[in-house]
Amino acid sequence: MNTPMLTDLVQSSLPNDQVRSTVDEYTSFHAGSVETRKTHYTKMVNDYYDLVTDFYEFGWGQSFHFAPRHKGEAFLASLARHEFYLAHQLGLRAGMTALDVGCGVGGPMRAIARFSGANVVGVNNNDYQIKRGTEQNEQAHLSDQCSFLKADFMKLPVPDKSYDAVYAIEATCHAPDKVRLFKELYRVMKDGAEFAGYEWCTTDRYDAKNPEHREIKKGIEEGDALPDIWSMQDVLDALVEAGFEVRQSRDLAPDSDPETPWYLPLSGKWSLSGFKHTPAGRFLTNKLVRILEATRVAPKGTTAVSDFLNAGAMALVRGGETGIFTPMFFFHARKPASRS
Ligand SMILES: C[S@@+](CC[C@H](N)C(=O)[O-])C[C@H]1O[C@@H](n2cnc3c(N)ncnc32)[C@H](O)[C@@H]1O
Repeated sequence: MNTPMLTDLVQSSLPNDQVRSTVDEYTSFHAGSVETRKTHYTKMVNDYYDLVTDFYEFGWGQSFHFAPRHKGEAFLASLARHEFYLAHQLGLRAGMTALDVGCGVGGPMRAIARFSGANVVGVNNNDYQIKRGTEQNEQAHLSDQCSFLKADFMKLPVPDKSYDAVYAIEATCHAPDKVRLFKELYRVMKDGAEFAGYEWCTTDRYDAKNPEHREIKKGIEEGDALPDIWSMQDVLDALVEAGFEVRQSRDLAPDSDPETPWYLPLSGKWSLSGFKHTPAGRFLTNKLVRILEATRVAPKGTTAVSDFLNAGAMALVRGGETGIFTPMFFFHARKPASRS
């Protein structure tokens, strides 16, 4: 299975007559309160990924995350380095089994399995992404090393102490309750196992009294199916409350060279390789999708998906430029070894 072409965006994972109603349902969750989104998180997040997965693959690739980037470093190389950093920090190697929490279509899982030799189980609650990812695992000849577990990461159908390590890349931001999630991950980890991840957070520059900051935060939540966005300190507190020892933590956003911030792919100037996710590329995609919808080639609602993704991208860029938001708060924690 190859990267989707623009025309694949009109063959959504959903039946054509369900696209518009799914968009309406998704947007209605954001008209409500944080509590509404927490209560309906399964529907909200699955609606979102049913609608956007083809757009993500078309515009971004098989790894659905950001990365700090250095001048002269290619976009895909920066994504891979960011994934390998986690594997390295966790000391993944052949013979270990790691859980990838909220694994998307499995781009990071395949890269990390190849890099480290470890087996990786990716948990995901979205059927369409698992279908795409299972085919991609087969194509990559990695079906023996990489597998998908269809489940809600808040309640894993897995015995206690199953995994040697756990990692999460920009996925736990969708959780309705981080303490409950971290306790669940703690439960399925072996004693002494380590957990590392990249979390979407507000930084210390975020001021809840500032209307512009609040508007940016809301824009990111709406554009990316988040119930809320936590501060970096809240994430650390939740890890400790769940029982973890925090070994290190740091916002990696400042690691980028000033010319290549993490949000550059969304805000950047013309570049042939990364054109599809730049403002000009998104504008063109949006116009073409509009024509396809008007001529009934694309289902009703496809343009609305492109619209809310664009609004989300602009909010992310403003979050990055103001420094009030990071998608790469790195944490590395450990479940204490058994004392008995
Ligand atoms: C932004 S994507 C990141 C995917 C992947 N980590 C990557 O970097 O390519 C977030 C992922 O989390 C998954 N997810 C969100 N909430 C979930 C839940 N409650 N249980 C399992 N997976 C969930 C989504 O389906 C999606 O695959």
